[in-house]
Amino acid sequence: MAKKAQATWGGRFSAGPAELMLRFSESVSFDARLAPFDIQGSKGHSAMLAHVGIITRKERDAIHAGLDAILAEIQAGQFTWSTQLEDVHMNIEQALTKRVPAAAKLHTARSRNDQVATDMRLYFKAACTDLVQRLDAAQRAILAVAGTHADILIPGYTHLQRAQPVFFAHHLFAYLEMLQRDAERFAVVQDHANWCPLGSGAIAGTTLPIDREFSAKALGFVDARGRPRVTQNSMDAVSDRDLHIEFASACALVGVHLSRIAEDLILWASQEFKFVELPDAFCTGSSLMPQKKNPDSMELTRGKSARLQGNLHTLLTLAKGLPLTYNRDLQEDKPPVFDSHDQTAILLDVLAGTFAGMTVRRERCAAAVGDPALLATDLADYLVRAGVPFREAHHAVGALVRLAEENKVLLDQLSHDDVSKVHPKFGPDWADCFDLPKAMARRRGAGMPGPAQLKRQFARWKKLLG
Ligand code: ARG
Repeated sequence: MAKKAQATWGGRFSAGPAELMLRFSESVSFDARLAPFDIQGSKGHSAMLAHVGIITRKERDAIHAGLDAILAEIQAGQFTWSTQLEDVHMNIEQALTKRVPAAAKLHTARSRNDQVATDMRLYFKAACTDLVQRLDAAQRAILAVAGTHADILIPGYTHLQRAQPVFFAHHLFAYLEMLQRDAERFAVVQDHANWCPLGSGAIAGTTLPIDREFSAKALGFVDARGRPRVTQNSMDAVSDRDLHIEFASACALVGVHLSRIAEDLILWASQEFKFVELPDAFCTGSSLMPQKKNPDSMELTRGKSARLQGNLHTLLTLAKGLPLTYNRDLQEDKPPVFDSHDQTAILLDVLAGTFAGMTVRRERCAAAVGDPALLATDLADYLVRAGVPFREAHHAVGALVRLAEENKVLLDQLSHDDVSKVHPKFGPDWADCFDLPKAMARRRGAGMPGPAQLKRQFARWKKLLG
């Protein structure tokens, strides 16, 4: 049976959409979360309409009061969303129409295309602030662990083979760098979002005498000096989704970073390493093996990073073949964006919680970093300081490593006699290279893991993270 024509766009239709089509095409089940931004956008738009005299100030005030009441209802969970009305925009407009006669003028000089573009830009600005705050909290949790374990050394790894000694804090500071760039990426997305699309209409603006700068100012789309920023091409403004892609990309990169951090923690928490113990509150047990304590929070972090990449891929594919301008395909842009936001948020919170409850096993770290082979490169540098070309020095130390292996002793247990036979430039002080504190002190350049740099980095991060 034919349904009643749709209330907002049904003028040219003799019958409404099929029940199946309604279920298929509705977006209110996921875009309802845009309500605060949709209402903010509508308030800005109606303020502009009043400013240019398209509606009266009384009408504007009635619209604003109605929108405020609707927002309060939504926030109290008392608003009835209807899938019949498709999306967040029409649900709110219909609710307003029931309260305020002037609501019929709200959509003047506006289309849902520039409306949703505005909503999303307002949303992205808030979402970026949210994620930057969570990144900050995660960084502070990591910094706290570094601070209470500032003297601990561990082996740094390449190819998952012990490479050279580093301060545990230096390793953790690498995480801070990664997350700092992530925060900067969200700041860039936020800046790209900071252009007001209102006035683009459905595709080609409007014939009515609107004031785009007024809308932009009213909604906070302004530069650092308070000057309004309005989008410069109506077709681009309603059809591009590169912001969505940039946002999902920034989230996916957070995911990649967190996944690598998670992998480190999983390894470090294993019986084989035992550098750290993860908090019970973020681990689970085995239903079969009573001894198990599984690092589930970190494994899920690794897993969810796949999901963030999937969301990015969905958006890239969604946008790639579409003719300009708006196509309904674009409604599918929201679920991956919201999911990326929500998952990134909880991932960061879980990381902070996991670090906050982590125990570092000093004795295990000391045992691992005590391996003198970690300082083989320092032996080569010793020869270089004595004037030996690095390649020759590298070769000589390689021979020492082999000799130690053949003699079944540790590298620092070779006699000076044996060593000087391999290379005459090894003096009696050759074994000084194995003095770990001295070895670390030599790594004094910017970005290196020596104690002087470590101090600098502590100061820098404390300042950056407050
Ligand atoms: N719910 C729609 C979306 O998110 C709003 C825009 C609808 N525009 C249209 N021309 N049907 O894409």
